[in-house]
Amino acid sequence: MKGVALVTGASGGLGQAVACRLAAEGWSLILSGREAVGLDRVLSKLVGGGHLVVVADCSTVAGARQILDVAKASQIRPTALAHCVGNIRLGAVHRMSETDFDECLSANLVSAFHTLAAFVGALREANSPGAAVLVSSAAARIGTPNHEAVAAAKAGVEGLVRGAAATYAANGIRVNAVAPGIMDTPAASRILGSSAGREAAARQYPLPGIGAPDELAELMVWLLSAQAARVTGQVWSLDGGFSAIRPLVK
Ligand SMILES: NC(=O)c1ccc[n+]([C@@H]2O[C@H](COP(=O)([O-])OP(=O)(O)OC[C@H]3O[C@@H](n4cnc5c(N)ncnc54)[C@H](OP(=O)(O)O)[C@@H]3O)[C@@H](O)[C@H]2O)c1
Repeated sequence: MKGVALVTGASGGLGQAVACRLAAEGWSLILSGREAVGLDRVLSKLVGGGHLVVVADCSTVAGARQILDVAKASQIRPTALAHCVGNIRLGAVHRMSETDFDECLSANLVSAFHTLAAFVGALREANSPGAAVLVSSAAARIGTPNHEAVAAAKAGVEGLVRGAAATYAANGIRVNAVAPGIMDTPAASRILGSSAGREAAARQYPLPGIGAPDELAELMVWLLSAQAARVTGQVWSLDGGFSAIRPLVK
């Protein structure tokens, strides 16, 4: 067994892919999300045993702590965190409602802050090293029309990653993030739901196409592994070149 990993947002498209890969590589898992049915569905797909399901809303301090408290009561101590909670709220800044903005910040940034705090708190209590990987977005790295809210939230996640990586490096706790372009998950279903939307989205990328959650999951699992023992404070783009290069215009 590799150890215990906490996967938040585990019933989502990315969370599920990460959970399946971690379990296949020998990790025991704590699957967390707000609703039991989806988590049980993911649990039934996992190889190996000893996995735990915790229903909680990790966008609150109490919810995030609850996950670690339930694990502790079951004598399970995660040393890895894959925080897969988030949403996509699109719209120009002058049109975005207060509710949409609040939900975007809460799911993407507030949840990351409180979950990382609870995870690191548990590691420090046990005097244990560990590793966390959070999820940013290509939209935080390059200006993208109508992505103001999610860009602001994910830029906050990237700042959180660098700050926490610096604070806890001396404790052997690594903190990194990944920054994907669009992926085929329920969060992107409004954009990818029609063939026209799908083709338009795919064309935006220098390496055209739509990302698969499993390819991002592979990178996240590597960042949590011993092979990445010297990697911390980084944000790894996986976006077909979207945030770094301009395609050749013919
Ligand atoms: N898909 C894309 O194109 C794309 C692009 C860039 C970045 N990302 C990022 O990738 C990550 C994974 O998203 P996804 O694509 O896998 O989307 P998804 O399938 O919609 O999954 C998101 C998960 O987050 C959970 N969640 C949302 N708010 C929560 C909260 N307050 N507390 C607990 N769980 C909460 C949802 O659980 P419920 O079932 O409880 O709602 C869901 O399981 C997110 O951070 C997203 O911003 C996605």
